[in-house]
Amino acid sequence: MKRPTPSATPAPKTAYADPLAELLRPGQSIELLKELHILTRDGKLNQDSRRKLKQVFHLCQFIEPLLDEVPGRQDTLMLADHGAGKSYLGFMLYDLFLKDRAGAHIYGIETRDALVEKSRELAARLGFTRMSFLNATVAESITAGTLPARIDIVTALHACNTATDDAIRFALAKQARHIVLVPCCQAEVATVLRKHKNESFGKTPLSEIWRHPIHTREFGSQLTNVLRCLQLESHGYQVTVTELVGWEHSMKNELIIATQTGAPRNNASARLRQILQELNLQELEARFLGPQ
Ligand SMILES: C[S@@+](CC[C@H](N)C(=O)[O-])C[C@H]1O[C@@H](n2cnc3c(N)ncnc32)[C@H](O)[C@@H]1O
Repeated sequence: MKRPTPSATPAPKTAYADPLAELLRPGQSIELLKELHILTRDGKLNQDSRRKLKQVFHLCQFIEPLLDEVPGRQDTLMLADHGAGKSYLGFMLYDLFLKDRAGAHIYGIETRDALVEKSRELAARLGFTRMSFLNATVAESITAGTLPARIDIVTALHACNTATDDAIRFALAKQARHIVLVPCCQAEVATVLRKHKNESFGKTPLSEIWRHPIHTREFGSQLTNVLRCLQLESHGYQVTVTELVGWEHSMKNELIIATQTGAPRNNASARLRQILQELNLQELEARFLGPQ
């Protein structure tokens, strides 16, 4: 029997043949990845960190084009990362895109003392001299004298609960050109929906949407992001909402990117106010419509 001739073209590599090659970028500091425990000491991918690495890389890809798109600020670039945690995002951005850009500075804002201290030590060890870490809440950082009056890009990756809302306030106060948010769960809107449930039943059949407790939580969470988008649009930002990575990688996967255009969407604040009224959420006006 005649054997089939072997094909001249090699079989395509499977997409996941080498998980390290799939995830790492050229020029990336292996030392940093080891320090962040993304790689083990012997240079293997730490499986527990794989998901985080994928999220952070995806986010870096979304942020990269924004770094060159800050009008009139070619020489300097100020970026603030809120709820920084171990500062994976800040360190990656610095390592991949900003270490050779003399005017760029990254500020990590984080409440947990130990994480701030660790990030400071790591930045010093790696010679990442244009990274600073502030031990403060996002809200406190709005008026912190150690931060510049103007910040070009604001990021918040899974900043807990209302820390994302404070990051929006921060961005508005600092006239940020770009705002990149991957929100965590926010409980405040769901709490107010729950509080006024009975009132809402008598007012609108739409209250069926949040009648069951799980729906209250889920709807509250989605509504929060809708209100955030309207808030940003009312302040002149153009907003896009997409997924960060596939849902199999993270449940908290909504990516909101807002870019200042100087032209507020004219019905955004009216719509926002109407939604708050319709759903008995007027007590949240200060959160989403308050003076900035
Ligand atoms: C889920 S972690 C995310 C950390 C990091 N951004 C990441 O994705 O790896 C949220 C972080 O936000 C911090 N955090 C929570 N509320 C905060 C606030 N109001 N101001 C500043 N940091 C806050 C927590 O201490 C925690 O480290």
